[in-house]
Amino acid sequence: MSEVVSGGGIASHAADADWWRGAVIYQIYPRSFQDTDGDGVGDLKGIAGRLDHIASLDVDAIWISPFFQSPMKDFGYDVSDYCAVDPLFGTLADFDHLIAEAHARNIKVTIDQVLSHTSDQHAWFKESRSSKTNAKADWYVWADAKPDGTPPNNWLSIFGGSAWEWDTTRCQYFLHNFLTSQPDINFHSQAAQDALLDSVEFWLKRGVDGFRLDTVNFYVHSQGLENNPPASLEDRSSPEAPAVNPYNWQDHIHDKSQPENLEFLKRLRALLDRYPAKTTVGEIGDGPRSLKTMAAYTSGGDKLHMSYTFDFLSPIFSKAHFVQRVKAFEAIVGDGWPCWAFSNHDVVRHVSRWTSDGDFDGVAKIAAGILLSLRGSVCLYQGEELGLTEADVAYEDLQDPYGIRFWPEYKGRDGCRTPMVWESNGAYAGFSSAKPWLPVPPEHIAKAVNRETSDRSSVLAQYRQMIAFRRAHPALRDGSIEFVDAPGDVLAFVREDGGEKILCVFNLGSSGASFAVPAGMKLTALDGHGFKAGLDAAGRTVSLGGRDAFFGKIA
Ligand code: BGC
Repeated sequence: MSEVVSGGGIASHAADADWWRGAVIYQIYPRSFQDTDGDGVGDLKGIAGRLDHIASLDVDAIWISPFFQSPMKDFGYDVSDYCAVDPLFGTLADFDHLIAEAHARNIKVTIDQVLSHTSDQHAWFKESRSSKTNAKADWYVWADAKPDGTPPNNWLSIFGGSAWEWDTTRCQYFLHNFLTSQPDINFHSQAAQDALLDSVEFWLKRGVDGFRLDTVNFYVHSQGLENNPPASLEDRSSPEAPAVNPYNWQDHIHDKSQPENLEFLKRLRALLDRYPAKTTVGEIGDGPRSLKTMAAYTSGGDKLHMSYTFDFLSPIFSKAHFVQRVKAFEAIVGDGWPCWAFSNHDVVRHVSRWTSDGDFDGVAKIAAGILLSLRGSVCLYQGEELGLTEADVAYEDLQDPYGIRFWPEYKGRDGCRTPMVWESNGAYAGFSSAKPWLPVPPEHIAKAVNRETSDRSSVLAQYRQMIAFRRAHPALRDGSIEFVDAPGDVLAFVREDGGEKILCVFNLGSSGASFAVPAGMKLTALDGHGFKAGLDAAGRTVSLGGRDAFFGKIA
């Protein structure tokens, strides 16, 4: 792998411009990864100190959730300075050290850019709200009240209530798609776009390899400020918001995903293309239109590289859902590239979401097998490799404003954000010497990294083997995917790339199943993935245990 020098002069390893295609990306939620300074909150030095664990998984890259200066009302997704590290997490020097250490281990570093909105403590917003005539007056979305004093339209905030907040200085409303303290930037202002692109370039110069773009389809709103129409009943169940949140009752055709965003994304891509081997993955939640928006944002090679989908962040764990969502993606998104995830810092951990019979580890393992065999790139969320379940956080310990607002019907996102468990005998499982910002669930201790590392049948062992298996077989990274008929809970597909053709068979059910090899298909069983299913001597029947998988090379 060759070393190249990025625009800012800091070395980054960028051998292959297409490295992100099929990559496995490990998501780090820095508050909960590793604390080194004894304040109960994780930090950048903690990430650097735990890189060997990440390297042992052999992933391609990390994605670090926001560590920028922030009042932390949304735990870093409310940025008050895009170019500064929040002291809670460390310093810019700590970040430079982290990049160097990651690159030394052949791990790329991608960071989270929250460009759609800032904190209300950002200097840009303070200036913007100070008058209607200042230089940044139009950098945010300001609108007059209706004659009766109510907000300009019916747009809703994801975090509850109207998306408009009254400001007494300007005597106008400002738009916020999330908390009232997260005002939306007005992307119709070229000057605001320029400033955002400058902040992105700041990190490119520091040597980052790419960006996860938070809520990328929320950047641009309709300047007509038209009311959103109601959503159809069937579209109310989108995984972007919990059922008790009326956000999903609207069809969001005016408050987000406006066509002008494509022009901004082209500007962003042109900037990235000035640096070697950079990538972007955009979080796209657009209800029934998500796939079309993904197609628009990732086609043509001049906008985003990858789209991060919500398809498997829902409570549905079924063969039919996997087949339907992947086929729909392939049919609609064309030359776009997906990035699949089963868990992240916003949703109930998939092992809890998808297990109804108590077999948490079995579900964790078969899910890992499926995820790491899909066509596309893959994001793993910290702790997923241990098979961590969702924590039940008591109301008194809740931190997430979203959960506090909708509790108890929706408990928010704290249950998937509890600390990583490193050592079963360490203080707070090796996460911190002080009481952590969220409790360590007692049931997680037995799943600490030290315990699972010494257990060859652990979920961690399964992840390590599956990632190695994916790496050993390029067809699993970027080959085509074609589904094969299979009975009951058995999911089967063929991945093909160049000369390599692999049959992948998964039993999602808890009891044994068999799969008849299609007539004429000549198979040799592959090993190295950690699953146990076998092929009979005649090569015609695959016998699978409950939550078991089989991989075979097709001649
Ligand atoms: C992030 C959330 C965040 C929201 C607002 C998201 O989609 O993943 O954690 O609260 O954007 O920035």
